[in-house]
Amino acid sequence: MANRFRLELPRRPRRMRRTGSLRALCCETEVRPSHLIQPLFVMDGEEAPEPIESMPGMARLSIKDLVGECRELRALGISGVALFPKLSAERKTDDGREALNPDTLVLRAIRAIKAAVPEITVITDLALDPYTLHGHDGLWDAGAQDLANDATVELLAEMAVLAAAAGVDMVAPSDMMDGRVGAIRAALDDHGFEATAIMAYSAKFASAFYGPFRDAVGSASSAGTHHLDKRTYQLNPANRREALTEVALDEAEGADVLMVKPAGPYLDIIREVREETELPLAAYQVSGEYAQIMAAAERGWLDLERCRDESLLAIRRAGADMILTYFAKAFAATFAESGDAQ
Ligand code: PBG
Repeated sequence: MANRFRLELPRRPRRMRRTGSLRALCCETEVRPSHLIQPLFVMDGEEAPEPIESMPGMARLSIKDLVGECRELRALGISGVALFPKLSAERKTDDGREALNPDTLVLRAIRAIKAAVPEITVITDLALDPYTLHGHDGLWDAGAQDLANDATVELLAEMAVLAAAAGVDMVAPSDMMDGRVGAIRAALDDHGFEATAIMAYSAKFASAFYGPFRDAVGSASSAGTHHLDKRTYQLNPANRREALTEVALDEAEGADVLMVKPAGPYLDIIREVREETELPLAAYQVSGEYAQIMAAAERGWLDLERCRDESLLAIRRAGADMILTYFAKAFAATFAESGDAQ
């Protein structure tokens, strides 16, 4: 029996959602492995991978395993890796001087990857947190009870030159000191590294979602807790306009790529930055965002793959060109299996 109730509608948007191929034709956003950067943790020695408890599926790797991992990631179509060293406690000091050791772990890792898998983009953080006993990103001024901005920047610029000499493609200052991008650009250029790019952690918020990462690199342990207060340098999560100021400064100082971090809870900031600048934009889906999805999936409360893919899609839709995500490899592996279907 024909239904007599009929709406007179000028538009019926559901028409274009009726079949898979119609939906595919109308799809506005996509995530591909080439958009992704896999963060990786590297450790000294030749031991087997050391699983990171608060980040299921992630482990600290020896340099040898790291190189193998980069080969696999590249074969899966992943564009880049971001390296984070986990130093043993005896290498850490209050002034983080190990960061300037020309043979320090992360520099050996860069050289090894660039020798074996030169096509993959290698990125390293510029910040002192893996190297300092206190776990802060810069030099601690006990009198001021704060980081010493300019002295830290001087060190970061030296770290940048060392990383560039080791063959890194992009250096990523993650410290949030004032003026660091300009100083790093000048130091790189002075040493003939005009081709080394700067991916600036421009809008990096003082987020509680970094907890698992601090376990992974051991930067939380000296404080005896997950929580290390970085609010004198990282942004207040309440502040939008201040984030845009930071972004504008990094662009003016010569950043090649801007970044918003974390990603999921800051989609509005990603969108605003996208509209303010023509530069490539990165977003970092941080350790806590990863841990949330993994934990709920382990309990059977969320569908891992679908939530993972949706979280990445949302970050792209907000306006990010590239995403640093711990899901990079797993995403690329299922992408390869399922062909292009999204
Ligand atoms: C260190 C750094 C952090 C992250 C990347 N670089 C932690 C912090 O600022 O305390 C966080 C990454 C993550 O949580 O996945 N400067």
